[in-house]
Amino acid sequence: MAAPIIHGVRTVGVLGAGQMGLGIAYVSALRAKVPVLLLDKSKEQVSSSLKFMDKLLAKDVSKGKIQDIEAKEARDRISVLDYDSHGIEGFRDTDMVIEAVSENIQLKRTLFKSISEAVNPDCIMASNTSSISITKIAAATIPEGVSASSEQGRKYAERVVGLHFFNPVPVMKLVELIAALQTSQSTLERARAFASACGKEVTTSQDVPGFVSNAVLMPFINEAIMTLEKGVATKEDIDKTLRLGMAHPMGPLQLGKRPDFIGLDTCLAIQQTLYQGTGDSKYRPSVLLERMVDAKWLGKKSGKGFYDYQ
Ligand code: CAA
Repeated sequence: MAAPIIHGVRTVGVLGAGQMGLGIAYVSALRAKVPVLLLDKSKEQVSSSLKFMDKLLAKDVSKGKIQDIEAKEARDRISVLDYDSHGIEGFRDTDMVIEAVSENIQLKRTLFKSISEAVNPDCIMASNTSSISITKIAAATIPEGVSASSEQGRKYAERVVGLHFFNPVPVMKLVELIAALQTSQSTLERARAFASACGKEVTTSQDVPGFVSNAVLMPFINEAIMTLEKGVATKEDIDKTLRLGMAHPMGPLQLGKRPDFIGLDTCLAIQQTLYQGTGDSKYRPSVLLERMVDAKWLGKKSGKGFYDYQ
């Protein structure tokens, strides 16, 4: 018998329509079958993401993974909020907002403050951050002048949780669930149930820099970049070694290989968070990675990373 759905999410808001936000909207609409309100300040981003979504749904139909009617219903569940006329206020009647903007703590704290002011008092506020402290994000939701330990203060911060999806979201089977110090048990359980309804397996991690996934993945990627930097092997051979020698679906450098795929700017931001958050030199970003981001060679999304994508 199917597990009871206890997330109580009748409408979800997704903030950020980049590759992660798009994927989260996709699994929410297709798998969890909930209406999605998508918000991004870039109209171009929204339009290119929706085109990609249509392609993905059409591919799933053509491969017989879903019926035509399921694809149509999923697409119809997704509405776009106009940033200029609605902004974050448009999330007012949602039961959960999932933020998927870039890895910038100030930006996330500012957005969570606005979300907490806009939404109803039961709404869960989830961040898809890959590395930033959920506790720091949660603290930003408490209104000025309200004590963090008061009942009123706790009512804001206890609804903040980390829901870390993996790229590409429609394909990767995992969501990492992270409780801030302030997160309530009910928020955690509802967030877990929602991730399961999206078809994901859920692991939990404490709120440490990078959680489990990136605390392990980032030193691995960085080591591969430093191996390239030292001239130990070509990028192709580094990737091939990991792909064929260790059965990784992608090597650590290319698309086809991870950092180009994740985005080198995102990799650098995560590594900086890990390094600053722990002070541990094993997390220090390589100079080559910093230079590539300086040059705006960000991987697949900018047409050039360790490999060319033109
Ligand atoms: N969005 C949606 N679906 C996608 C996709 C995308 N961006 N890219 C590929 N897919 C789908 C394809 O459509 C295809 O679906 P079907 O089986 O229905 O045809 C399926 O994935 C396999 O694709 P391909 O055959 O084209 O290519 P592949 O076999 O090389 O698989 C891959 C592609 C799934 C991305 C695979 O290479 C892989 O698993 N790579 C590892 C990805 C990874 O490590 N992700 C985690 C990154 S870290 C992260 O996200 C967390 C963080 O905090 C930084």
